[in-house]
Amino acid sequence: MPLTDPDLIAGQKTWSETCTTCHLTGLTGAPIIGNKAAWEHRIAKGLETLYDHALNGFIGPEYTEMPPKGGFAELSDDQVRQAVRFMTHLSQ
Ligand code: HEC
Repeated sequence: MPLTDPDLIAGQKTWSETCTTCHLTGLTGAPIIGNKAAWEHRIAKGLETLYDHALNGFIGPEYTEMPPKGGFAELSDDQVRQAVRFMTHLSQ
């Protein structure tokens, strides 16, 4: 399905430049984009919670760590939110 939402298009760009290191490969236990089983319970938390965890960092029950902004402190908050939207959009 082509992406038409401008936020998702911007999110794809940010995502492919930063989040891929972990979320394309599963490095350090990251949920892989498009893996519905890995994302279902995360998406169920709601977007606001996922934004918060992506912006401020999150350590899950398996003690794997999402670093704040994925370790890319130079990203704006909106860029991170757009990347979250892109990743969840392709994972449900
Ligand atoms: C250094 C590796 C790494 C990078 C880079 C990274 N992540 Fe993560 N991310 C993780 C790991 C590991 C988890 C799983 C944490 C857990 O649930 O234990 C995670 C989980 C998440 C979650 C789910 C949080 C939750 O509450 O379930 C979101 C959303 C997320 N990352 C967004 C992003 C975005 C957006 C980027 C790029 C800006 C990014 N990540 C870059 C490692 C990374």
